[in-house]
Amino acid sequence: MKVTVVGAGAVGATCADNIARKQLCDELVIVDIKDGVAEGKAMDLMQTAQLEGFDTKIIGSTNDYSKTAGTDVVVITSGIPRKPGMTREELIGINAGIVKNVSQSILDKSPDAIIIVISNPMDTMTYLALKSTGISKHKIIGMGGILDSARYRYNLSKALNCSPNDLQASVIGGHGDTTMIPLTRLATYMGMPVSNFASADVLEKVAADTMVGGATLTGLLGTSAWYAPGSAGSMLVETIVRNERRLVPCCVALDGEYGQSDICLGVPVIVGRNGWESIVDYKLNADEQAAFNKSADAVRNMNEILSTLNL
Ligand code: 2OP
Repeated sequence: MKVTVVGAGAVGATCADNIARKQLCDELVIVDIKDGVAEGKAMDLMQTAQLEGFDTKIIGSTNDYSKTAGTDVVVITSGIPRKPGMTREELIGINAGIVKNVSQSILDKSPDAIIIVISNPMDTMTYLALKSTGISKHKIIGMGGILDSARYRYNLSKALNCSPNDLQASVIGGHGDTTMIPLTRLATYMGMPVSNFASADVLEKVAADTMVGGATLTGLLGTSAWYAPGSAGSMLVETIVRNERRLVPCCVALDGEYGQSDICLGVPVIVGRNGWESIVDYKLNADEQAAFNKSADAVRNMNEILSTLNL
């Protein structure tokens, strides 16, 4: 099994670190455009092999995609991160060109690769990867919902004073401060509705904090977060390479599901060795469906900007 991570910044390096420690593949390639950075990170990570006890071979490459040939799964993290006060959407001009070029360069060498998109604005970058490559929709997955759901469980666990591991909770819709939808009605603590354990006001605040989870970290760190985004990327790699068929909220192409088409948006999907297999219907109530439609409108507006860029 061979995995490539494109972008050796904080998110890409964290994702690569997790992939190696969990020994998810035999060969892991890290690609970056900055001279020597991918090689340096690969060497640094390889020097943890004996300490961490993994056998994955990690190779760094400065923009030489021939080293990525035979990749089974690629994680695209490249592009600029947001700075405090910026939305993910403001990154579209620069990141669109990067994501398009990276997707094509990967597929030139590995036509069967499954593509995981982390670069922002993630829903639009996933849509761009789908439209610009023309590969099966099942092989293109945006990671945002896994990250947002992990943040949601963290926030819920603080409110309920419990372990995030005992919570089930999903965020669907877009991966944006105003487009994501934490599904409070369906969140449970070991099968019991979270509303049995916290007031509506508390749960509303938990949802609101979750929606600005990335922005809060960007304010604290001066740049966007990396541990949870990298971890969400490697979790997705794991469910693919180990064919776990996990049910995870991810950004995928919709063809009428959840009432939307010609858009990539976060919904619960089963993910295994061949990419995402199927979309599960949460049977949203009227309010949730209205929020989903509003989220789709916002993401669609963002997607329309793609045609104004010189890609
Ligand atoms: C975040 O929400 C990087 O979009 C990512 O932190």
